[in-house]
Amino acid sequence: MNSLTPDPRPLTPAKGRILSGVQPTGNLHLGNYLGAIRNWVRLQDSHECLFMLADLHAITVPQDPAKLRAHVRETAAAYIACGIDPKKSVIFPQSGVSAHAELAWILSCHTPLGWLNRMTQFKEKAGKQRDNAMLGLYSYPVLMAADILAYKATHVPVGEDQKQHLELCRDIAGAFNRQYEREFFPLPEPLILGQATRVMSLRDGTKKMSKSDESDYSRINLTDDADAIALKFRKAKSDMIEGISYNEQERPEAANLLNIYAVLKDITREQALAECAGKNFSAFKQMLTDVAVESLSPITRTMRELLESPDYIDEVLAKGLGNARAIADVTMREVKDLVGFL
Ligand code: TRP
Repeated sequence: MNSLTPDPRPLTPAKGRILSGVQPTGNLHLGNYLGAIRNWVRLQDSHECLFMLADLHAITVPQDPAKLRAHVRETAAAYIACGIDPKKSVIFPQSGVSAHAELAWILSCHTPLGWLNRMTQFKEKAGKQRDNAMLGLYSYPVLMAADILAYKATHVPVGEDQKQHLELCRDIAGAFNRQYEREFFPLPEPLILGQATRVMSLRDGTKKMSKSDESDYSRINLTDDADAIALKFRKAKSDMIEGISYNEQERPEAANLLNIYAVLKDITREQALAECAGKNFSAFKQMLTDVAVESLSPITRTMRELLESPDYIDEVLAKGLGNARAIADVTMREVKDLVGFL
């Protein structure tokens, strides 16, 4: 493994600062890769990038402590295996930078309840038993705003499901700036990258691919080997219509598989259709398996290797924490000064 120092700064001027992250909840899958992590890789040469492991967000639902720790390392390994380069980007666990929780509190005092009450993700996650939902689940978007604003990030790559939270972050930043009468926080812009950021379940083309789906056949995990990938695509839900065509409403499963194929091959949906419109499902699934194995197996292999050297991962995270804190601490000093803390 290469040594982590020195830390060369990018040669091209940064176009802005990126912050993003995923929750380290285990079972990282194709949806996380295609919808998030893969899109970050290309940003590393043009932007200053910070990618965190959102462990504070992970505990908005109960977590087993030993598993959480393992999942943080596993997710860090996935970032690196997917192409996030620790020499270019800052990789760190969110909980290691106290600014996140501290700023979240301050921002929560600038966030009207009405804004949070609009958040659709909370409504979905809390379900009918809203009184039993935890305060942290409710204030989750405020913590997310703090994640972004602690670094004065200018751009945030997000999937569809996080767009509303990013909007809220912009509203909170605006409210803060107005209250203290200065352009303190930049309003972060969403970066919606790539096509088909929504990868759907292999068992139900209308549901998002999810780590919490009880059927493992619903998702391709980043730890699946070639046999597992082949088996899962073979068993993936299909339909009785002849040939492959794209129609999200009438053929959600075919549409999903076609999207996955196109994104993995880095071609447009039209190009993908040109390649497989005349195929039957089983031939198409074989093509899909081949591209999936080809692009995922190097990742899987690197992830395994990395997980065999947890010391290296810990070294990356420790260095990331140092770099992240250096930025966030400056913001916190300024914030505390603005708010009027001694
Ligand atoms: N909420 C995001 C998710 O579940 C993860 C996240 C936490 C995040 N903080 C963030 C993403 C800040 C972008 C920016 O996917």
